[in-house]
Amino acid sequence: MSWDVYMKGIILAGGKSSRLFPATISMSKQLLPIYDKPLIYYPLSTLMLAGIRDILIITTPYDLPLFQRMLGDGLSLGIRLTYQTQSSPQGIAHAFILGESFIGNDTVCLILGDNLIYGEGLSNTLQKCTSLTQGSTIFGYYVRDPERYGVVEFDENQNPTRIIEKPKTPPSNYAVIGLYFYDNQVINIAKQLPFSARGELEITDINNYYLQQKQLQLIKLTRGTAWLDTGTADALLDAANFIQVLECRQGLKIGCPEEIAWRKEYISTTQLLSLAKAISSSDYGKYLLNLVTDHEIITI
Ligand code: G1P
Repeated sequence: MSWDVYMKGIILAGGKSSRLFPATISMSKQLLPIYDKPLIYYPLSTLMLAGIRDILIITTPYDLPLFQRMLGDGLSLGIRLTYQTQSSPQGIAHAFILGESFIGNDTVCLILGDNLIYGEGLSNTLQKCTSLTQGSTIFGYYVRDPERYGVVEFDENQNPTRIIEKPKTPPSNYAVIGLYFYDNQVINIAKQLPFSARGELEITDINNYYLQQKQLQLIKLTRGTAWLDTGTADALLDAANFIQVLECRQGLKIGCPEEIAWRKEYISTTQLLSLAKAISSSDYGKYLLNLVTDHEIITI
């Protein structure tokens, strides 16, 4: 397959999600539904909206067959999906070590499998990020409770000076979201990281490294953007309610990889219809069927 964007994509969908037990005892959080589709559809859609089509899914040995059964090799979506297991969670930055041969000599975008990002103009912003050749791009999002995340410290000119992982006293309200764009250096940076006090290879250490090298670009997401967390039962329900309200109001789906593939012309109408027919007993399948007869051109 050949395509315009050469950046590779990684979805990190490992971990135990113990804060959601018992819901996640037997399967990964990213397989749970957020309203009408599995959680992983949202980060997958984010990568596809960016134009990234060569994607590695990192997950546990138990969940890998389930993801494969759900998404296959990606060919039916006009993308390429490969899978890699992570037997024990060793931190987000471990993804670049596991993904070394997949990344090869390319640049890479990593998205956490439980991050749901939605907002006007996001697609364009992400597409621009895929042309990165040097350094890194990360995103800051204003939140009420920054202490739960990696938090950006700024100088008096609003330039980032440091990122602090889960600080007790946050230096700002800007949390770093789980979507990161890096040049190829990231593999070697990850390999040299020490394990943190919580026993993980920290993505924040990678970001601080780029920052010290003056190779980190921070984009502040606008207040019209939604970045939703799905770590707890309440957060999961909030995310589902958010999607349900918007989808029911507009009759348009959020995080629908089949629609994105079709509108971006990765797949033909015949291919879309065959995907739709296979699941036409659900409202999701009916939505896909209706896309081709809906004459309104809706941008994604
Ligand atoms: C991780 C990162 C943190 C980031 C967050 C985004 O946190 O370590 O910097 O802000 O993802 O979701 P964790 O999921 O490990 O608590």
